Amino acid sequence: MHFGVDYHPEHWVYPYAGSPEHPEARWQRDIELMVEAGVNVVRMGEFAWGLYEPEEGKFDFEWIRRAMDLCAKAGIKVVLGTPTAAPPLWLAKKHPEILPKDSHGQTLHEGTRRACCMNSDVYWDYSRRIVRALAESLGKHPQLIAWQIDNGLGGHGTEAAFNEETRRDWHAWLKAKYETVGHLNDMMGLRHWGQTATQFEDVPMPMHAPTVHNPALLLDWMRFSSDTIVAYARMQADLLREITPGIPVTQNLRALTRKFDHFDMAEVLDFVSIDSNATIKSKSAELACEIDMLRSLKKAGIRTPDGETGFWVIEQKAGAVDWQDVNALVRPGVVRMFTYQLVSRGAAGVLYFLWRQPRIGAEKFYGGVLTHDGRGQNRTFQEIKEIGQELKRLGPALKDTKVVAEACILFSHENEWNQQSVKQPNKHFHQREHVQLFYNALHDRNIPVDFARPTEDLSKYKVVIAPSLQLLAGGEADLLKLYVQNGGTLIATFNTGLIDEHHIAPDSGFPHDMIDLFGLEVLEFDPLPPGEENHLVLKGAFSATHMHPARLWCDIIEPKGCQVIGTYAKDFYAGRPAITTNQYGNGRAIYIGTMSQQPFYHDLAVWIRQLCGINPLLKVPDTVEVSMRQKGNTKIFFLINHQNSPVRIPFYKPMHDFLTGKTFTGNYDLPPHGVLVLDENVPGA
Ligand code: GAL
Repeated sequence: MHFGVDYHPEHWVYPYAGSPEHPEARWQRDIELMVEAGVNVVRMGEFAWGLYEPEEGKFDFEWIRRAMDLCAKAGIKVVLGTPTAAPPLWLAKKHPEILPKDSHGQTLHEGTRRACCMNSDVYWDYSRRIVRALAESLGKHPQLIAWQIDNGLGGHGTEAAFNEETRRDWHAWLKAKYETVGHLNDMMGLRHWGQTATQFEDVPMPMHAPTVHNPALLLDWMRFSSDTIVAYARMQADLLREITPGIPVTQNLRALTRKFDHFDMAEVLDFVSIDSNATIKSKSAELACEIDMLRSLKKAGIRTPDGETGFWVIEQKAGAVDWQDVNALVRPGVVRMFTYQLVSRGAAGVLYFLWRQPRIGAEKFYGGVLTHDGRGQNRTFQEIKEIGQELKRLGPALKDTKVVAEACILFSHENEWNQQSVKQPNKHFHQREHVQLFYNALHDRNIPVDFARPTEDLSKYKVVIAPSLQLLAGGEADLLKLYVQNGGTLIATFNTGLIDEHHIAPDSGFPHDMIDLFGLEVLEFDPLPPGEENHLVLKGAFSATHMHPARLWCDIIEPKGCQVIGTYAKDFYAGRPAITTNQYGNGRAIYIGTMSQQPFYHDLAVWIRQLCGINPLLKVPDTVEVSMRQKGNTKIFFLINHQNSPVRIPFYKPMHDFLTGKTFTGNYDLPPHGVLVLDENVPGA
């Protein structure tokens, strides 16, 4: 298993380390300490453009080659970042037109990272040159095992710029999509407020304006910006594959914060890497949700350096971050716990950000494996060292194992963008919160979950949950029908199928194209302010442990053949259906017309498990997170205690723990933040 750190040798030269005679002397000590910690891979160079090319056309890759050579002596492999996230000062000075403009038309200036417009031809040309020079110079270095394209694409809100070159590309993109301006006017509905264009060149970029832009235009703008970023990554990936065909490419992605289509991006990559800020969240299921989502971006065609099918965590925060109001110290054992959470959900490589807290620059108080003093006696270093030893022992058992899920949650970026950026019936409703309620219900019952976009092949899943797919393309609705027709169980909710891919509302009733699938029609919907509630009256097989509220949104449903499972308790729609199920082909389509609180979703999970024959991985107390990696009949269970206090786990049959070599039977008290990695192969049994 790959285990490593993000290393910045450029921070550790004279005058910050070393001496005038031996400016790079510290590197040797770093490598020794890395070996001591069990590090077998480093990522380097992701911001080094200005050092690789200090003057236009004058390249110097020798310093990083020396660092790679030192790695070679210690058997440490290298992932190199292409350095395009931080264009050098001379480039901005010579070509100020590469600097991005914000939605007010104001220039965002140079002197930091990400100061570039992704539509600038000049930036693309210079990017090609530096990437080519880097790949030609170091691509054959025996330590190199992967490329990371750029760093944090779209970060700091730089997904879109409003430059003149952007406008040019925007119009070209629109022309390719709509062919005639008449078609564009029709499909975008620009006759609303009389904003029809007479030529493509008239179509505005959605810059800061007195009030909202046409939502169809805004949606296309987000698609265009996403396509731009993905095309930029593809340009680099193609170039790298041409020069170094054997070396896989990856990129560091973050969950749910950057506005480009991560599924599209994953298609460009050989394997997905993620940044994990796991140390700062309190709810383990939120982190698990993000990890599962990122794992799910790429399900096939994965090519990691060692042939594993998982993803890499190329930046796992080793300590506190530096961008909160209070950057609390990460408690002992917590980094280990989060590392196992990532590994348990499919990580095939983990690298910590960053090796040593830098003495210089903007991130000097970021938690590091080493503190500023670099002595290697600090607590985090000792903890990382222990994790390194454990993972070395665990590696062979984890080989070729992967996470297998029978439940899937649908997620589409277009739907998310639409709900975040366009006027909504209820601004207190958040898609993310809705997804999380379903996710928690499965997570807390130890049922593994994948995420997918609605266009994927869903046939392997026993249940597919589609929370609030407000934007649903006609083709997507057809695929969902096919899934149910063939025997699947689909659960959809209020706020589904209100608009199509052109942001046009149907005139055939809600949810569009799916009235037959659910056997119902939504006649009206009633968005409720926070604090105001209706209630659910449930019947039959769905047994309720609580009086469940209906909040934020209540669909008023006309049944058209569906079976009613629950009704509303009050208001003028008292007694009308709130939850229904409908047989369709060989499967069933369940509809939940409102949003409730977490206990409802827990009850729902119990019902769904029975309906679909899904078994939880293990039975353990609620506060213990369980996940599993498997290969054929080999099943490796991870039990993680996210609590600050011990949890008693009853073992009904003996299980073997890889980390301690012990066999557990009867009761075992899992310590605070403790981890068990178990299988059923009890030695001597
Ligand atoms: C990452 C970035 C790192 C560091 C980190 C801070 O996205 O790649 O360079 O800045 O964020 O959270």
